[in-house]
Parts: sequence; structure tokens; C-alpha cells
Amino acid sequence: MAITTLATSLSALVLLASLVSAQSAVYGQCGGTGWTGPTTCVSGSVCTYSNPYYSQCLPGTASSGSSSSASSSTASSGATPTISGGLPGATGTGKLHTVAKAAGKTYFGSATDNPELTDSPYVAILSDNTMFGQITPGNSWKWDATEPSRGTFTFTAGDAILSLAQKNSQLLRGHNCVWYNQLPSWVTSGNFDAATLQSIITTHCSTIVGHYKGDTYSWDVVNEPFNDDGTWRTDVFYNTLNTSYVATALNAAKSADSATKLYINDYNIETAGAKSTAMQNLVKSLKSAGTPIDGVGVQGHLIVGEVSSMTSNLAAFTALGVEVAITELDIRMTLPATAALYAQQKTDYQTVISSCQAVAECIGVTIWDYTDKYSWVPATFSGQGGACPWDASLLKKPAFDGIVNGFQS
Ligand SMILES: *[C@@H]1O[C@H](CO)[C@@H](O)[C@H](O)[C@H]1NC(C)=O
Repeated sequence: MAITTLATSLSALVLLASLVSAQSAVYGQCGGTGWTGPTTCVSGSVCTYSNPYYSQCLPGTASSGSSSSASSSTASSGATPTISGGLPGATGTGKLHTVAKAAGKTYFGSATDNPELTDSPYVAILSDNTMFGQITPGNSWKWDATEPSRGTFTFTAGDAILSLAQKNSQLLRGHNCVWYNQLPSWVTSGNFDAATLQSIITTHCSTIVGHYKGDTYSWDVVNEPFNDDGTWRTDVFYNTLNTSYVATALNAAKSADSATKLYINDYNIETAGAKSTAMQNLVKSLKSAGTPIDGVGVQGHLIVGEVSSMTSNLAAFTALGVEVAITELDIRMTLPATAALYAQQKTDYQTVISSCQAVAECIGVTIWDYTDKYSWVPATFSGQGGACPWDASLLKKPAFDGIVNGFQS
């Protein structure tokens, strides 16, 4: 932290030395497209991004963390907006799906969830299909939401996501058929014999995939089958059916919608290791058995400063004859956010996207919601957050620029 503060202060001094114009007064303009006036604010105020055309000096001092008041006041210019916490924002104005398509990818997308759809500013950004050409339902297609009691299916919430995607002309990733988590207790506590549980899986997958037949680009048919050491996760499916449940689910999905791409999805398979090897071995055995499998979903729940190239690992999957996608990307940090953490996060997003860009059969990237306002991270990892490319005020962070750079690498 001390080194970060020193570095930030030094860069602020360099910047100050290069600025000869006066500082803007409180409530004066300090940035925006075409603005040629002062881009710093008098002491006691902070240059605050309002929209691409206008930044304004508002009373207050810079946020805590490594940025001093001097660095924050000078960090803002027409080109670098200030976002929540007085931190530097993204400079790019491109649209991510458009950029991904221009780079040869099928989509750039975001997860979303039903409770968020009452938030109009959130929905407005999500619905820009040049920004997000694909959406994934965060929860409403899961087992507990779609078959809360045996044989009784409910699609009201799920269909709201379908309607949104259709209205916006966005692709859909189905998520998911078979997962150890968010299962209703009738599944986990039913003490079903193998034949019965196999039939329950077939009914569940064929019904939900069939309900959305023709509506999805792909489906996460099996989610998170492995432990981090590459052994099979001992959930109700594995414990009752051994590994055969995977083929049961894939075959059911295939017969319900022969056109959608069938994926297995997991985390901590981004780089080489026991878990990635286990997933590759599963793909090989499914392929050799003639079981339908089209893709591997690499979730990408990552940590700022701990991201390395995924290219060779993604290529190891595609060499097996499947496509890959980054399906749940977010890159979290220990809070509070600082300018230095945002800068590292930008680098880390760029590393992930450029890894996908380097592999032709890495067909798309989905972020696990686009804004920190609705990120799952703070509730799951105590003290962590800031994982998404948009901050909690729906303003673009430097990570946005990292994504664009990655596709253009
Ligand atoms: C489980 O299936 C694997 C093959 O996927 C097999 O090698 C193993 O023997 C099976 N285990 C049991 C207990 O049947």
C-alpha cells in the first residue's frame, strides 16, 4: 500500500507539473468531449464524471485507498472520466459485442437475473445489443426455479429472460440442467435408486431444454462436475449414478433440441492443472463413446493480480474437437478499490480476452453480470468485490478498456 501511494503521488506530481491551466472552481466543468478548459479542480472538490460530455467539480475529497486528493483531482480529463470513489474510469467508447464480432467472435454477453429487471438504468445498458449480444439467466433456469417439485415445471421467471433476449435480439446461453447446487430438496433427499434418478434427470433436462427449443445458442447441460483436485464431485448424481449421469443429461438435452450446443461448464479450469486435465479426459471419453458434447464452458471467476494467459489451456480443449467459451467472467479484488487495483484489473481482463482471442474456437465471452451493483462476489467472498467492468453506479471502469484491448490484440 505504501509503495502504491508513493507511485500514485509521483505520477500526480508529474501530471501537475505538466498542467499550466487554472483549476476549475467548485461546480465548474472539468472534462467532457470537446472540453478544452481546466481538467483539475480547486482543493476541496473532485472532478466527477457525469456523462461523456460533461464532468464537474463537486465538493468533497478523493476516496480512501491509495489515491491522494491531489492525484484524484488531476486524474480526470476529457479523456479519463472519474467514476465512483473518485477513481479513474474507462476511456473507451466502443461497444463490446461489436468489438467481439469484429474480432471474429460469436458474442460478448452478460449474465442477468430477474430481480434486476425492474432497474431501468440497468436494463437500458443490458439491452444495448451492440454492447451485449448475449445474455445468460443467472438463476431462473436452474433446477430449484424450474422444477421445484417433481414433475411440476414453472417457467414464468425463466420466460421473462427469454422475452428480454428476444426483444433485444440477443443470443441466450441456457444455464443449467444438472448441478449439485440450487437443487430442490426432493432431488437431494429423495433416496432414489439409480434407475429412478436417471429418469428424473432425463425428464428434467429434456423438459427445460425442450421448453426453450430453438431459443438458445448453447446450454450448460452439466455444471461443475469436478472438485478442484480433478476428482469427481460427490453429489447426489455421482453418488447414485457414478459418471453416467453426464451422458444421461447430454443425451436428454440432445433429443430435446438437436441444434443447441451442449456444454459442460466449470471453474478453475482456466489454466493447466488437475481439474483442467480431468475435464479434458471427460471430453475425450464422451467423444469416444459417441455422446454429444459441443463445448466446454470456462467460467473465469478470477482474482485481480492472479490472472495468467489461458491460451494454451483453451487450445488443449479445442484440440479435442469442442469449442470453448468464457462463461462467467469476473475478476474480484479485496476492497476498497483503488486506482492501482483498477489498473491491474484492466490488465487482467485484457489477459483473459486476449487468450480467448488467440484461440479461434473460443467463440465468446460472458461476464457474470456487467455491474458491481449486482455481482455475486461480495455476498460470497467476504471483503471482496469490484469484480465487474461497470461499477455499482453503472459507470465503466478501466476493465472495460482492457476487454476492448484484448479483442484487438
Ligand atoms: C465409475 O465409472 C468409472 C468410469 O467412468 C469406472 O471406472 C468406475 O469403476 C465406476 N465406479 C463404480 C463404483 O462403479
